[in-house]
Amino acid sequence: MNKKITIVYPDVAGFIAPEIYGHFSEHIGGVIYDGIWVGKDSDIPNINGFRLDLVEKFKKINPPVLRWPGGCFAETYNWRDGIGKNRPVRPQWWTRFDGRYESNEFGTHEFFEFCELIGAKTYLALNVTSITPMQARDWIDYCISPRGSTTLALEREANGHPEPFKIDFIGVGNENWGGGGNMTPEYYALIYRQFASLIDNLTNLKIPLIIGGANGEDYNWTRKITEVISASEKRVSGMSFHYYSSKVGDAVNFTDDEWYGMIKKASKMEQLIERHYAVPLNYGIDDKMKLVIDEWGCWHPDGSGPSQGYNLFEQQSTMRDAVVAALTLNIFNNNASKILMANVAQLCNNLHALFLSGGHNCIVTPTYHVFDMYKAHQGAECVRTLVSDNCGELSQKLSVSASKKDEVITLTVANLSLTEDAVCDIELLGATRCGKASVTTLCSRDVRAHNTFKEPNKIATVTHELEDNSLTIPRASVISLSIKVR
Ligand code: AHR
Repeated sequence: MNKKITIVYPDVAGFIAPEIYGHFSEHIGGVIYDGIWVGKDSDIPNINGFRLDLVEKFKKINPPVLRWPGGCFAETYNWRDGIGKNRPVRPQWWTRFDGRYESNEFGTHEFFEFCELIGAKTYLALNVTSITPMQARDWIDYCISPRGSTTLALEREANGHPEPFKIDFIGVGNENWGGGGNMTPEYYALIYRQFASLIDNLTNLKIPLIIGGANGEDYNWTRKITEVISASEKRVSGMSFHYYSSKVGDAVNFTDDEWYGMIKKASKMEQLIERHYAVPLNYGIDDKMKLVIDEWGCWHPDGSGPSQGYNLFEQQSTMRDAVVAALTLNIFNNNASKILMANVAQLCNNLHALFLSGGHNCIVTPTYHVFDMYKAHQGAECVRTLVSDNCGELSQKLSVSASKKDEVITLTVANLSLTEDAVCDIELLGATRCGKASVTTLCSRDVRAHNTFKEPNKIATVTHELEDNSLTIPRASVISLSIKVR
C-alpha cells in the first residue's frame, strides 16, 4: 500500500504526561517473586534482592511510574504484613487460583526502594474492602510522616528508613465492581468519599487520589460515580478504568483472523477514552477526573509462558502484542489531554509483560522494545498527524502518532496489516528537517515468533538513517522515526 503521513508540526494536541507510559506490578504468579525480586541471598545477580538484569533493562526505558501491590491482590493486602522482621505467610487473593501463598518478603520498603532504583514515581493501590479507612490512613502515615514525628514514623525508622517515602499517586481500591468487593457504583462512590476524607485529613500534601472506575464499556458505572462525586466536595484527581483485549486465539499460534480480531479489540480503546471522558466533561468536572487506564493489555489463554502455567497468567508475546502495544500507545498520545496516567498490565511473567524471567534467565519481550522506541514521547507535546487513504479494512491501515520535544519530532507507526508493506511519503508541515532522520524498526518475518530463554533476541530492533522522505514500513511492524527540526 502507498500512503502519505503528514506531520502537522504547528498543531499541538496536548501534553503527553510521562505517566501514560506507566507500569503495573501485582503480587500474582511470577511478577514479584522470581520476577522483580530474587532475594538478597540469591546467587542470581541482584541489588539488595532485586533482579539486577531487570533493574538495568527497565531503567533504560525510563519507567515513569509503577502501580503496586495490585490488582485484585490489593483488596486482601494488609500493609502491616509487609514491614519489619518475621513477616507472616498468608493466603492471598490469588491463592484459590494457583495455590501459592504470600511470603510478604516484598513489602512497602522494598516497593519504594525498587522505584527509587528504576527512577519511577510510586502509585499505591489501597485496600478498601478488607481493611478499615483508619488502617489505610495508618499506611500513609507510616510512609510519609516526617522523621521522628509520629509513632508510625518511628516504626519506619526502626525498620531502616528514617526519611519518609514519597507517595505520588493513591488509587482508592481496585475493580470494586468485581474482585474489590462486588459493589454497586453508588455504594463504591460513598466508600471513596469515606477513604478520601480520612486521607485528606491526614495529609496536606494533596497526593493525587484516583477513584476506581469501570470495567471496559461499563459507562453506567462511570455515570453513577460521577454523579455522586459531583455532588460532594471530596477531592478526586483522576478516574481509572481497566480494559483488556482478551482471548482471541492462542498467545503464539493464532490464526490470521485472530491477528485482526485482537487488533480490532485493542482499537476499541479510542472510543472507551472518548465515552468515559465525556461523562465528567458533561458534569463540568473533567479536570478532576482525567482518565487513568491503570490496567490494559492483551490477555491470552494461560500456559504459554516459560513456566508453562506455573506462574498464573504468564504469557508469551509476539509481534501481535507489540503491534497492540504500539497501537494503544498511539491512541493514548493522540488523546493525551484526557489522560493522566496509564499502566500496562503487567511488568514481568504475566499478561502483556515486558520481561520474562525464571532462575538465572531474564529476557525482554517485543512489547519492551515498543516502550523503548516510544520513550521520546514522554513529556512531549502531541502533534497532529494525517494519513492518506487510511480508512477501511485493518489490513490497509496504519496507526500513527507524533510528538515534539526540544526540536525533535518523534513519529511512531504500527502497520496493522499482516500482508502488505506500506510505502510512505513523510511530509513535515511547518518545520524544516535538519540532517538525516533515524528510523528504528521492530518486525519479524514470522509474526508468531517470540523471544525465549534459548533465543532471547529473536525479535529485536534495527536502526538506520533515512536518506530521503520515503519510508517503507514492513507489514506487521512498529517503527519510530526521530527527526531533528528547526
Ligand atoms: O492483571 C490481572 C488482574 O486483572 C488484576 O488483578 C485485576 O485488577 C484484573 O482483573
